Amino acid sequence: MTTVFDFSGRNVFVVGGTSGINLGTAHAFARAGATVSVASRSQDKVDAAVRALQAHGGRAAGYALDVRDAGAVEQAFEDCAARFGSIDVLVSGAAGNFPAPALGISPNGFKSVVDIDLLGTFHVLRAAFPHLSKPGASIVNISAPQAFLPMESQMHVCAAKAGVDMITRVAALEWGSAGVRVNSVVPGPIDNTEGMRRLAPTPEAMQLTVDSVPLKRLGTVDHIADACMWLSSPQAEYVSGVVLPVDGGWSLGGASSLGRGLAELMGGNSRR
Ligand code: COA
Ligand code: NAP
Repeated sequence: MTTVFDFSGRNVFVVGGTSGINLGTAHAFARAGATVSVASRSQDKVDAAVRALQAHGGRAAGYALDVRDAGAVEQAFEDCAARFGSIDVLVSGAAGNFPAPALGISPNGFKSVVDIDLLGTFHVLRAAFPHLSKPGASIVNISAPQAFLPMESQMHVCAAKAGVDMITRVAALEWGSAGVRVNSVVPGPIDNTEGMRRLAPTPEAMQLTVDSVPLKRLGTVDHIADACMWLSSPQAEYVSGVVLPVDGGWSLGGASSLGRGLAELMGGNSRR
């Protein structure tokens, strides 16, 4: 695949970049010439991602860490900056999700998702900031329509991703004067991803999902990668503090009504 973007000589860090949407985004930046680092919990996934990214011909590195561990996140950014220099682009997309009605989410289940998505985003941005190229760096947080559309069986994710978008906006305010732009990308239902396998695990649930999107199709990993690259490119140099849906119109309402449909289809209030 060709790319219209040129990130040659740029240093890109994709947190949660070892599978799905974030790995696709890491590949897109690598194809565009960037040095790409990725991080996630599984050493095997990190190793596989680094090998695959190196196949594009550029440099790549990986860090096995949990974003809930602030010290490990700081260590990774220090190491990355020491190896490759200051960081031009940060994509922060580590997340956890499971569908469950509010009363089927234990306090620890709620906390786990908030700790990964929201606290993890804070850890990542806080650790990255000292190592960002200033001026000129771009941060993209990967959000979700649940951030602004209430969705049944997603109370924990709605709460966490709403917080992520507020982190985006406050960081854009505070860090604009340093020349750091901060934006969120909001993926719609993306084909062949863990997120969709969890939310819509049967063909019927998947069809219901497709029907809920105004464009009547799922998105692709490349749709999200393109948005991350555009937001991080010189063409978007005056764009900051934006929460950008890339979702075929799903966040106009379809995502919210889908929650009810899926709950009915999947048998409502079972815990798992
Ligand atoms: N329904 C209800 N509760 C669930 C659940 C489900 N389907 N899956 C996990 N939980 C609960 C667990 O029971 C536990 O709570 P408890 O201690 O009160 O029993 C809590 O969530 C934490 O589970 P655990 O497996 O220990 O957490 P973890 O930190 O290892 O994993 C998750 C975090 C739960 C978010 C896990 O699904 C994960 O790692 N997800 C990453 C991949 C992913 O979600 N991708 C899609 C991104 S959109
Ligand atoms: P995915 O493949 O499961 O990606 C999640 C990534 O985060 C993985 O690399 C995972 O790797 C990592 N991760 C999870 N918990 C972590 C932790 N505690 N610390 C560090 N890394 C962690 O899921 P996806 O569906 O592609 O989703 C990617 C992003 O898009 C998420 O932010 C999600 O909320 C968002 N999104 C997805 C959709 C969709 O349709 N799929 C829609 C809207 C928004 P490890 O397991 O190795 O940790």
